[in-house]
Amino acid sequence: MSDVTLEKLVSLCKRRGFIFQSSEIYGGLNGAYDYGPLGVELKNNIRDFWWKEMTRLHDDIVGLDASILMHPRVWEASGHVQNFSDPMVDCRQCKSRFRADQIDLEAACPNCGTKDSFTEPREFNLMFSTHIGATNDASSKIYLRPETAQGIYVDFKNVLSSSRVKIPFGIAQVGKSFRNEITTRHFIFRSCEFEQLEMQWFCAPGTDDDWFAYWKEQRLAFYHKIGIRPTHLRWHQHGPDELAFYAKEAFDIQYLFPMGWQELEGVHNRTDYDLTQHQEFSGKEMNYLDPTTNERYIPYVVETSAGLTRAVLMALSDAYEEQTLEGGDVRTVMHFHPLIAPITVAVLPLVKKDGIAEFAKDVEKELREEFATFFDVSGAIGRRYRRMDEVGTPYCVTIDYQSLEDKTVTLRHRDSMEQERIAIADLVGAIKEATKAYKRVGTEA
Ligand code: GAP
Repeated sequence: MSDVTLEKLVSLCKRRGFIFQSSEIYGGLNGAYDYGPLGVELKNNIRDFWWKEMTRLHDDIVGLDASILMHPRVWEASGHVQNFSDPMVDCRQCKSRFRADQIDLEAACPNCGTKDSFTEPREFNLMFSTHIGATNDASSKIYLRPETAQGIYVDFKNVLSSSRVKIPFGIAQVGKSFRNEITTRHFIFRSCEFEQLEMQWFCAPGTDDDWFAYWKEQRLAFYHKIGIRPTHLRWHQHGPDELAFYAKEAFDIQYLFPMGWQELEGVHNRTDYDLTQHQEFSGKEMNYLDPTTNERYIPYVVETSAGLTRAVLMALSDAYEEQTLEGGDVRTVMHFHPLIAPITVAVLPLVKKDGIAEFAKDVEKELREEFATFFDVSGAIGRRYRRMDEVGTPYCVTIDYQSLEDKTVTLRHRDSMEQERIAIADLVGAIKEATKAYKRVGTEA
């Protein structure tokens, strides 16, 4: 049975140290979350896998880590100061604020139940502002970036002149973005502070449609590679009323979250909009001289823009299963692909005494060089397996008396719960092979 709900995920995340509400001891801060010991591993694994995929496995993509604070003119040029807003209404009675497009304006206030209490919709800019330097006036006002993409456009010429890249090429960046989201429902799905995985692909005008099709295919394949079930992923094309102000064409990869189909990543054809805007606002040329044709043009951009923190929620939702076992027991198992699981291998000595724990610790120390490991000596072995199933550890290595004699161990596979006896010398190879050949097993596979 599946039975994944957001409530169950929130509870598991807190109980097992994946995700906590920010500032919880002070009552929490809406729209901000802390990633605990297992959550940060899961998030970093998805991030690292994305980085490898985009920069190492693709020719001509280089990395960048631009600063969060940028010149305020950047956001005028990008259009965010004028356009990056949601229509909001306030309830005159209880002062609650809602997105006008997410509630029925004819109905009573969802918070206090008062009828006819809403103000006219007003545009509310989503950017957080702050001040830089000693003064606190309009001249020192800056913004926390609402997307990482602009850092890439602004550094386009720097990368071009320093990296021997030629069009077409891409710049990839991972980093925090900030949006003053008023509706922060659904756990980490929509938060005020979040992380993005963005890549801007610079290409010649006229080649953009072909590159757009190429990147669509690549990005969907990425989620299959990290083990997300294809039946839970689909495309959604933006209609004219949904298209962002800068986009010629846009498709979202949607995931079937517990609350329904929702956006996970956008693939956008941003044309030459951003570079043209920055050229105009900065007065600096943003064009490219094609060395073979001697043509000069402002490149077109195909953007792939994913939410890292949203991908963590997807990985959690996709992995979750409550399985009824033979005999009626129910186990909660997280079917993370071994490539992204926070712990890859747990080493479990069957008993503590007679040198078994020490022997097991030595095995674990060897495995550490290759994998994220965990060592657990306490509790009945069945209970220890369940604990590892619940945090999605794909492999458990059990050490017993026989291990001392013949240097073999039991390797247990999380999904099938099958066990095999193998030589310690073959463990690393066996785990790598199993990871390469991994296919989810379970009632929800
Ligand atoms: N540079 C283009 C851009 O930022 P977007 O569709 O606004 O496009 C891209 O955002 C991705 O960033 C989304 O698909 C989503 O995964 C993630 N994202 C956006 N707002 C978010 C929020 N408030 N909380 C978590 N993730 C968010």
